[in-house]
Amino acid sequence: MSALSVLDGYRLWAPTYSAENAVSELETRLVAEMTPPLAGLRLLDAGCGTGRRLLGSGAATAVGVDLSPEMIEAGQGALGPEARMLVGDVRALPLADAGFDLVWCRLVIGHLPECARAYAELGRVAAPGARVIVTDFHPAAHEAGHRRTFRHGDQVHEVEHYVHALATHRDAAAAAGLHLADIREAQIGPAVRPFYAQAGRLALYEQHLGLPVVLALAFEKKDRCGS
Ligand SMILES: C[S@@+](CC[C@H](N)C(=O)[O-])C[C@H]1O[C@@H](n2cnc3c(N)ncnc32)[C@H](O)[C@@H]1O
Repeated sequence: MSALSVLDGYRLWAPTYSAENAVSELETRLVAEMTPPLAGLRLLDAGCGTGRRLLGSGAATAVGVDLSPEMIEAGQGALGPEARMLVGDVRALPLADAGFDLVWCRLVIGHLPECARAYAELGRVAAPGARVIVTDFHPAAHEAGHRRTFRHGDQVHEVEHYVHALATHRDAAAAAGLHLADIREAQIGPAVRPFYAQAGRLALYEQHLGLPVVLALAFEKKDRCGS
Protein backbone atom coordinates (compact mmCIF):
# COMPACT_ATOMS: atom_id res chain seq x y z
CA MET A 1 0.00 0.00 0.00
CA SER A 2 1.53 3.37 -0.92
CA ALA A 3 1.07 6.04 1.74
CA LEU A 4 -1.02 9.15 1.11
CA SER A 5 0.37 12.61 1.85
CA VAL A 6 -0.92 14.30 5.01
CA LEU A 7 -3.16 16.65 3.03
CA ASP A 8 -4.66 13.91 0.86
CA GLY A 9 -4.97 11.46 3.75
CA TYR A 10 -6.74 13.79 6.15
CA ARG A 11 -8.96 15.20 3.39
CA LEU A 12 -10.40 11.68 3.07
CA TRP A 13 -10.30 10.83 6.77
CA ALA A 14 -11.85 14.11 8.00
CA PRO A 15 -15.57 13.13 7.94
CA THR A 16 -14.99 10.03 10.13
CA TYR A 17 -11.88 11.10 12.02
CA SER A 18 -13.52 11.99 15.31
CA ALA A 19 -14.54 8.36 16.03
CA GLU A 20 -12.14 7.02 18.69
CA ASN A 21 -9.95 3.96 18.19
CA ALA A 22 -7.53 2.00 20.38
CA VAL A 23 -4.60 4.34 19.74
CA SER A 24 -6.59 7.54 20.32
CA GLU A 25 -8.14 6.10 23.49
CA LEU A 26 -4.74 5.22 24.97
CA GLU A 27 -3.30 8.55 23.88
CA THR A 28 -6.13 10.46 25.55
CA ARG A 29 -5.56 8.63 28.83
CA LEU A 30 -1.81 9.37 28.77
CA VAL A 31 -2.29 13.05 27.99
CA ALA A 32 -4.90 13.37 30.75
CA GLU A 33 -2.34 12.02 33.23
CA MET A 34 0.34 14.47 32.08
CA THR A 35 -1.77 17.62 31.66
CA PRO A 36 -2.16 20.03 34.59
CA PRO A 37 -5.65 21.40 35.41
CA LEU A 38 -6.61 23.59 32.46
CA ALA A 39 -8.68 26.20 34.28
CA GLY A 40 -7.12 29.62 33.77
CA LEU A 41 -4.55 28.39 31.24
CA ARG A 42 -4.01 29.50 27.64
CA LEU A 43 -4.09 26.26 25.64
CA LEU A 44 -2.77 25.59 22.14
CA ASP A 45 -3.45 22.31 20.32
CA ALA A 46 -0.91 22.27 17.47
CA GLY A 47 -2.15 19.79 14.86
CA CYS A 48 -5.61 19.81 16.43
CA GLY A 49 -7.31 17.83 13.66
CA THR A 50 -11.05 18.26 14.12
CA GLY A 51 -10.42 20.03 17.43
CA ARG A 52 -11.99 17.15 19.37
CA ARG A 53 -9.56 17.58 22.28
CA LEU A 54 -10.51 21.25 22.64
CA LEU A 55 -14.17 20.46 23.24
CA GLY A 56 -15.03 21.33 26.83
CA SER A 57 -11.35 21.77 27.71
CA GLY A 58 -12.09 24.30 30.45
CA ALA A 59 -9.04 26.37 29.47
CA ALA A 60 -9.21 30.17 29.74
CA THR A 61 -8.52 30.38 26.01
CA ALA A 62 -8.11 27.54 23.54
CA VAL A 63 -6.65 27.68 20.04
CA GLY A 64 -6.21 24.86 17.54
CA VAL A 65 -4.05 24.92 14.41
CA ASP A 66 -4.08 22.24 11.71
CA LEU A 67 -2.66 21.86 8.22
CA SER A 68 -5.83 20.25 6.87
CA PRO A 69 -8.71 22.64 6.12
CA GLU A 70 -11.04 19.65 5.84
CA MET A 71 -10.20 18.44 9.34
CA ILE A 72 -10.91 21.89 10.77
CA GLU A 73 -14.13 22.20 8.80
CA ALA A 74 -15.27 18.76 9.97
CA GLY A 75 -14.92 19.79 13.61
CA GLN A 76 -15.98 23.41 13.44
CA GLY A 77 -19.70 22.73 13.99
CA ALA A 78 -19.11 20.89 17.26
CA LEU A 79 -16.91 23.61 18.78
CA GLY A 80 -18.59 26.72 20.12
CA PRO A 81 -16.93 30.00 21.02
CA GLU A 82 -14.84 28.07 23.58
CA ALA A 83 -12.08 27.54 20.99
CA ARG A 84 -10.70 29.11 17.83
CA MET A 85 -9.29 26.93 15.04
CA LEU A 86 -6.91 28.12 12.32
CA VAL A 87 -5.40 26.49 9.27
CA GLY A 88 -1.63 26.49 9.62
CA ASP A 89 1.55 24.46 9.76
CA VAL A 90 3.06 23.40 13.06
CA ARG A 91 6.44 24.27 11.50
CA ALA A 92 5.36 27.90 10.95
CA LEU A 93 2.61 28.61 13.48
CA PRO A 94 0.52 31.71 12.70
CA LEU A 95 0.76 32.78 16.34
CA ALA A 96 2.72 35.29 18.44
CA ASP A 97 5.65 34.33 20.66
CA ALA A 98 5.16 33.11 24.25
CA GLY A 99 1.35 33.17 24.19
CA PHE A 100 0.50 29.76 25.69
CA ASP A 101 0.83 28.13 29.11
CA LEU A 102 0.11 24.65 27.79
CA VAL A 103 0.85 23.34 24.31
CA TRP A 104 -0.30 19.97 22.99
CA CYS A 105 1.03 18.43 19.80
CA ARG A 106 -0.79 15.12 19.67
CA LEU A 107 -0.10 12.35 17.13
CA VAL A 108 1.23 14.93 14.66
CA ILE A 109 5.01 14.93 14.74
CA GLY A 110 5.35 11.48 13.17
CA HIS A 111 3.79 12.92 10.03
CA LEU A 112 6.79 15.24 9.63
CA PRO A 113 9.97 14.02 7.90
CA GLU A 114 12.03 15.98 10.44
CA CYS A 115 10.88 17.40 13.73
CA ALA A 116 13.33 20.25 14.53
CA ARG A 117 11.26 23.01 12.91
CA ALA A 118 8.12 21.87 14.74
CA TYR A 119 9.89 21.86 18.09
CA ALA A 120 11.35 25.31 17.35
CA GLU A 121 7.81 26.58 16.86
CA LEU A 122 6.36 24.80 19.89
CA GLY A 123 9.14 26.34 21.96
CA ARG A 124 8.61 29.79 20.46
CA VAL A 125 4.88 29.98 21.23
CA ALA A 126 5.22 28.47 24.74
CA ALA A 127 5.37 31.05 27.54
CA PRO A 128 8.24 30.86 30.06
CA GLY A 129 7.40 28.03 32.48
CA ALA A 130 4.86 26.48 30.06
CA ARG A 131 4.38 22.72 29.63
CA VAL A 132 4.54 21.22 26.13
CA ILE A 133 3.13 17.72 25.62
CA VAL A 134 4.03 15.81 22.47
CA THR A 135 2.61 12.40 21.63
CA ASP A 136 3.47 10.11 18.76
CA PHE A 137 2.75 6.70 17.34
CA HIS A 138 5.24 4.51 19.24
CA PRO A 139 8.41 3.51 17.30
CA ALA A 140 7.94 -0.07 18.60
CA ALA A 141 4.53 -0.26 16.92
CA HIS A 142 6.03 0.92 13.65
CA GLU A 143 8.81 -1.63 13.99
CA ALA A 144 6.20 -4.35 14.55
CA GLY A 145 4.65 -3.42 11.21
CA HIS A 146 1.79 -1.19 12.40
CA ARG A 147 0.99 1.82 10.23
CA ARG A 148 -1.17 4.96 10.41
CA THR A 149 -4.16 3.64 8.49
CA PHE A 150 -7.86 4.42 8.17
CA ARG A 151 -10.82 3.01 6.32
CA HIS A 152 -12.57 5.06 3.65
CA GLY A 153 -15.49 3.22 2.05
CA ASP A 154 -14.23 -0.27 1.33
CA GLN A 155 -10.57 0.76 1.12
CA VAL A 156 -7.86 1.00 3.76
CA HIS A 157 -5.42 3.89 3.31
CA GLU A 158 -2.11 4.63 4.96
CA VAL A 159 -0.92 8.18 5.76
CA GLU A 160 2.78 9.07 5.49
CA HIS A 161 4.62 8.61 8.74
CA TYR A 162 8.22 8.93 9.91
CA VAL A 163 9.87 7.42 12.98
CA HIS A 164 11.81 9.84 15.19
CA ALA A 165 14.06 8.36 17.87
CA LEU A 166 13.63 9.56 21.42
CA ALA A 167 17.04 11.27 21.26
CA THR A 168 15.91 13.19 18.16
CA HIS A 169 12.84 14.49 20.00
CA ARG A 170 14.91 15.39 23.04
CA ASP A 171 17.65 17.18 21.12
CA ALA A 172 15.24 19.12 18.89
CA ALA A 173 13.24 20.16 21.94
CA ALA A 174 16.36 21.18 23.89
CA ALA A 175 17.46 23.40 20.99
CA ALA A 176 14.06 25.12 21.33
CA GLY A 177 14.49 25.71 25.08
CA LEU A 178 12.25 22.78 26.04
CA HIS A 179 13.51 20.35 28.67
CA LEU A 180 12.24 16.81 28.90
CA ALA A 181 10.35 16.37 32.18
CA ASP A 182 8.38 13.15 31.71
CA ILE A 183 8.18 10.19 29.32
CA ARG A 184 5.35 7.68 29.26
CA GLU A 185 4.08 5.02 26.94
CA ALA A 186 0.81 3.15 26.54
CA GLN A 187 0.43 -0.46 25.52
CA ILE A 188 -2.42 -2.45 24.08
CA GLY A 189 -4.30 -3.87 27.07
CA PRO A 190 -7.72 -4.27 28.68
CA ALA A 191 -8.57 -0.56 28.37
CA VAL A 192 -8.87 -0.99 24.60
CA ARG A 193 -10.13 -4.57 24.39
CA PRO A 194 -13.67 -3.25 23.66
CA PHE A 195 -12.44 -1.70 20.38
CA TYR A 196 -11.18 -5.10 19.22
CA ALA A 197 -14.32 -6.85 20.50
CA GLN A 198 -16.57 -4.43 18.64
CA ALA A 199 -14.64 -5.08 15.43
CA GLY A 200 -14.87 -8.85 16.00
CA ARG A 201 -11.05 -9.02 16.19
CA LEU A 202 -10.29 -10.50 19.60
CA ALA A 203 -7.71 -12.88 18.12
CA LEU A 204 -5.82 -9.80 16.96
CA TYR A 205 -6.14 -8.31 20.44
CA GLU A 206 -4.34 -11.35 21.85
CA GLN A 207 -1.55 -10.85 19.29
CA HIS A 208 -1.20 -7.12 20.05
CA LEU A 209 -1.44 -7.42 23.83
CA GLY A 210 1.46 -5.58 25.50
CA LEU A 211 2.60 -3.76 22.34
CA PRO A 212 3.46 -0.10 23.07
CA VAL A 213 1.50 2.02 20.59
CA VAL A 214 1.73 5.55 22.01
CA LEU A 215 4.74 7.51 23.23
CA ALA A 216 4.11 10.69 25.23
CA LEU A 217 6.72 13.30 26.16
CA ALA A 218 6.25 16.30 28.43
CA PHE A 219 8.64 19.25 28.23
CA GLU A 220 9.02 22.37 30.32
CA LYS A 221 9.93 25.70 28.77
CA LYS A 222 12.67 27.44 30.71
CA ASP A 223 11.29 30.22 32.83
CA ARG A 224 12.87 33.69 32.67
CA CYS A 225 15.47 32.75 35.30
CA GLY A 226 16.60 29.88 33.03
CA SER A 227 15.48 27.02 35.32
C1 LIG B 1 -3.59 11.78 13.89
S1 LIG B 1 -4.25 13.37 13.59
C2 LIG B 1 -4.31 14.01 15.27
C3 LIG B 1 -5.30 15.13 15.43
C4 LIG B 1 -5.46 15.61 16.86
N1 LIG B 1 -4.18 16.02 17.41
C5 LIG B 1 -6.09 14.53 17.71
O1 LIG B 1 -5.38 13.92 18.52
O2 LIG B 1 -7.28 14.30 17.57
C6 LIG B 1 -2.87 14.21 12.90
C7 LIG B 1 -3.18 15.64 12.52
O3 LIG B 1 -1.96 16.31 12.27
C8 LIG B 1 -2.18 17.24 11.25
N2 LIG B 1 -0.89 17.62 10.67
C9 LIG B 1 0.00 16.84 10.03
N3 LIG B 1 1.07 17.58 9.65
C10 LIG B 1 0.85 18.84 10.10
C11 LIG B 1 1.58 20.05 10.05
N4 LIG B 1 2.78 20.11 9.43
N5 LIG B 1 1.06 21.15 10.61
C12 LIG B 1 -0.15 21.12 11.22
N6 LIG B 1 -0.90 19.99 11.30
C13 LIG B 1 -0.40 18.87 10.75
C14 LIG B 1 -3.08 16.48 10.28
O4 LIG B 1 -3.72 17.35 9.37
C15 LIG B 1 -4.03 15.79 11.25
O5 LIG B 1 -5.15 16.56 11.52
